[in-house]
Amino acid sequence: MKRRLLITGGAGFIGSHVVRLFVNKYPDYQIVNLDALTYAGNLENLADIQDKPNYVFEKGDITDETFIDQLFQQYQFDSVIHLAAESHVDRSIMDPLAFIRTNVLGTAVLLNNARKLWKDDLTNKLFYHVSTDEVYGSLGEEGLFHETTAYDPRSPYSASKASSDHFVMAYYHTYHLPVIISNCSNNYGSHHFPEKLIPLAIHNIKNNKPVPVYGKGENVRDWLFVEDHARAIDTIFHQGRTGETYNIGGFNEWKNIDLIQLLCNIMDRQLGRPEGTSAQLITFVKDRAGHDLRYAIDASKLNKELGWAPSLQFEEGLEKTVSWYLANETWLHNVTSGEYQQYYNEQYQKR
Ligand code: NAD
Ligand code: TYD
Repeated sequence: MKRRLLITGGAGFIGSHVVRLFVNKYPDYQIVNLDALTYAGNLENLADIQDKPNYVFEKGDITDETFIDQLFQQYQFDSVIHLAAESHVDRSIMDPLAFIRTNVLGTAVLLNNARKLWKDDLTNKLFYHVSTDEVYGSLGEEGLFHETTAYDPRSPYSASKASSDHFVMAYYHTYHLPVIISNCSNNYGSHHFPEKLIPLAIHNIKNNKPVPVYGKGENVRDWLFVEDHARAIDTIFHQGRTGETYNIGGFNEWKNIDLIQLLCNIMDRQLGRPEGTSAQLITFVKDRAGHDLRYAIDASKLNKELGWAPSLQFEEGLEKTVSWYLANETWLHNVTSGEYQQYYNEQYQKR
C-alpha cells in the first residue's frame, strides 16, 4: 500500500536514520520530514537522500497549530511517525518548560490534526509515537521494564514523554485514533549529538579533554544500535497492532564506567595511541540531579510477535560508531561550534 507519511524530527539523531531507511526502502511512499531544526536538528544528516523523488523536507514547529493544520491539509497524510522532541535529560533539568512545550503540547497538536483529518475514515491510518523506556522510571539491581510496567517518570524529560504517551493513548480510547507507541532504550551510533554520553566521550577523547562521568559511574543503561531501532520502527509501523505498545531494547546492559573504559580502549586502538592513554581522561564529576540508577528493557514481545531482534553486538557497534566520528570531523566540527560551546561550559563548569 502506498503511504503519505509524515515523519517528525527527521533531522535529528534517530529520525535521520528512520527517514533514510524509509526513503530508500519504500520508493512508493511520499515522505515528508518535518523538523524545526533546533540545535539538535541538522540537514547534513540527510545529505545522501535529500534529492530523492519520494522525499520532501518542511521546516516548522510541531507546537505551531496553524502551520501543522496547513501541513496536514496540504499533504493529506495517512500516517505519522512522530519523533520530534526535546531529548536530553540534562537540558530538561536546566529548562523543563521547553520540554513540556515540544513534547507534550507538540504531540497533542499533531494528534489533534490527525484526528481532524481522519475523523470520517480511520481505515489504513496510523499515528506511531516514538517514546522512551525512561517513562518507566528507575530499576534497582534486578528486573526489567515490561510493556505492563507502571509509568513512574522522574526527570522533566521523562515526565514530558510519559505525558505525551498518555495523550496518545487518550486519543486511542476517546476518539479511536489508530495509534501505536514504542518505548526504546538508549540508542547509540552515527549522527548522535555530542551532548549524550557516547558521542560526548568520543569527542572529548579525540580532543584530549576530560571525559565527565557522573557520580561513581555505576548507573546502568541498555544500549541499542540506532539502525536496529530504525528497523524496529519499520517492523512495528508495518506489522504492529494498533492500541499496543512495544518495548525495544538491546538486551545489552552496561555500567557507565565499564562502557567508558571499553570506549577508551577502542579509541586508543583507532587513534593509534598507547593502550591506557584515553582512560587517563576519565574524570568523576558531580552526579546528575535525580539520576535514574538503571534502565533495562524486556523486548521479548516485539521479538515473539513481530520477529525483531538486534543485529549488532555492542563492541562491533561501538567500533563502527567511533570509526564514523573519526571519519566525519567536519560534521562534528559543525555541530560543536556555536551554541554547543555555551551549553558545554554551563553544564560542566559547575560540576
Ligand atoms: P534528537 O534531539 O537528536 O532529535 C530531535 C529532533 O526533533 C531534532 O531534529 C529537532 O530539530 C526536532 N525538534 C525538536 N523540537 C521540535 C519542534 N518543536 N518542532 C519540530 N521539530 C522539533 O533526538 P533523538 O535522540 O533522535 O530522539 C528522537 C525521538 O526518540 C525522541 O522522541 C526521543 O524521546 C526518542 N527516544 C530517544 C532515545 C535516545 O537514546 N536518543 C531513546 C528512546 C527514545
Ligand atoms: P545520556 O547519554 O544523557 O542518556 P540518558 O540520560 O537519557 O540515559 O546519559 C547516559 C548515562 O551516562 C546516564 O547515566 C548519565 C551518564 N552521563 C555521564 O556520566 N556523563 C555525561 O557527560 C553524560 C552526558 C551522561
